[in-house]
Amino acid sequence: MAHIGFAGEPPSPAVRRLTAGIAPSTLQEILNRCLSGTVSPAVALMQMLIDTEDASAVRAAVDEVTGRAATLSRASDSILRDRVDDLTQLVVENEPGCERIAEMLQGTMDSPEPARTVEEGIAFCERLFDWSVQQSEEASVALYSLGSPQLLERATMEIMAELEQWGRVSNDHSVLDIGCGIGRLVQKLAPYVREVSGIDVSKRMIDAAVRRCGSLPNVHLLKGTGHDLHEFAGATFDTAIAVDTFPYLRQSGAALVETYFMEAARVLKPGGELVIFNYSYLGDDEADAAEVAALARDHGFDVLVSAIRPLAMWDGLAFRLRRRPPAVSS
Ligand SMILES: C[S@@+](CC[C@H](N)C(=O)[O-])C[C@H]1O[C@@H](n2cnc3c(N)ncnc32)[C@H](O)[C@@H]1O
Repeated sequence: MAHIGFAGEPPSPAVRRLTAGIAPSTLQEILNRCLSGTVSPAVALMQMLIDTEDASAVRAAVDEVTGRAATLSRASDSILRDRVDDLTQLVVENEPGCERIAEMLQGTMDSPEPARTVEEGIAFCERLFDWSVQQSEEASVALYSLGSPQLLERATMEIMAELEQWGRVSNDHSVLDIGCGIGRLVQKLAPYVREVSGIDVSKRMIDAAVRRCGSLPNVHLLKGTGHDLHEFAGATFDTAIAVDTFPYLRQSGAALVETYFMEAARVLKPGGELVIFNYSYLGDDEADAAEVAALARDHGFDVLVSAIRPLAMWDGLAFRLRRRPPAVSS
């Protein structure tokens, strides 16, 4: 299982030679992480685009590294050469996508962070995702897809493989996707589970999801209020997934995170599981693990997996929580 982490070993002298002098230093650091194998080329490109909001600057930095790598020996530096080749290929094949992402980032409304009220946070997320899904459906749910359906498909299949390995994909299971976006996971899960429901605060996300997979007979999609999961009865689901949704709940306020944990516990059957990919964007895995552990304890979950990065393409931080059966009073 590939393990892509945010931190990692310091760059080797060979990596440092390839990135020496690349400005700004934030780009150099991202390239160091990518060429050391700590983040995937897709995530590195996304991070560089977020950092600069300038596709030409990112292209120039990658071109510089590509040029310098030509002098590396294939025999002694084959892994490093391969990493440079992967990054170069991704940039070359996705030039229009990178430009589109840079434009999206320039146009993105500033987040009221932290939101002053939960209402303000939810309203912001609704506007943000209504807007971004109109720019690019693929990028709106996963910026690192660079807007490419093929890259998003690859990333989605990696998440599916992990869910399968964790026993969450089974034809007698009901699954809930919290913050389902365009329904990429709903669509993939549907053939392999009994029923799958997706809920999202963004009407335009749900419109896209309905267009993509709403006609599947065991799929239910709905626009929620963003406040809770009141549309679903208690003890309905075997699994609830939240893929890159919690960071937005968290930005909307700690009270909303508490509510969603309480709601997830309510709608899950005893023994059912809540799978979270990314809890926050703080970049502090230990802090995330501590917060999730406290929430799990307060809302009746056991932590089965905490703060691992099991995917090769996306560095989503994964948590797997099991809902404890209610205590039997004697
Ligand atoms: C980065 S996208 C990820 C979408 C989807 N989980 C995926 O991975 O393809 C985050 C999603 O969370 C949704 N979201 C944000 N706040 C929400 C809330 N309070 N309730 C429900 N969905 C919310 C957004 O509308 C958006 O679709």
